[in-house]
Amino acid sequence: MRRFLRNLTILGLASSAWLAHGQALDVAAAEALAKKSNCTKCHSVDKKKDGPSFKETAAKYKGQADAEAKLTKHITTGPKIKIDGVEEEHQMVKTKDPAEIKNLVRYVLSR
Ligand code: HEC
Repeated sequence: MRRFLRNLTILGLASSAWLAHGQALDVAAAEALAKKSNCTKCHSVDKKKDGPSFKETAAKYKGQADAEAKLTKHITTGPKIKIDGVEEEHQMVKTKDPAEIKNLVRYVLSR
């Protein structure tokens, strides 16, 4: 049992290292998807537009373990937001590919 637990820990460490380093962030792909999905109409990396800058969002979620999950939900479920007092659904990302979505979320969080 001890040994089993230890192996499990090693496996866990190995897979989180893979997540952190194995999948390199593809900045060009993230920016292309943001453009295609109209995100750039309301967001920029460092300037506030109708929506917060990606830098602001990265700072807000810094160190939060569930940041990726929260942002993924934000851009895939169309939650209600307000722009100048008018309620609308937040833009959904224009892909269904989880890897592309994850790449975009990690791009935002690493600005
Ligand atoms: C029509 C304008 C508009 C478009 C298009 C838009 N957003 Fe937003 N977004 C907003 C606004 C406004 C907020 C702030 C909502 C709030 O805080 O209630 C926001 C919030 C966010 C946040 C922060 C969420 C949080 O929990 O702090 C992220 C990340 C984000 N948008 C990413 C995106 C991405 C990625 C796209 C493209 C798929 C996109 N947005 C398209 C207006 C827009």
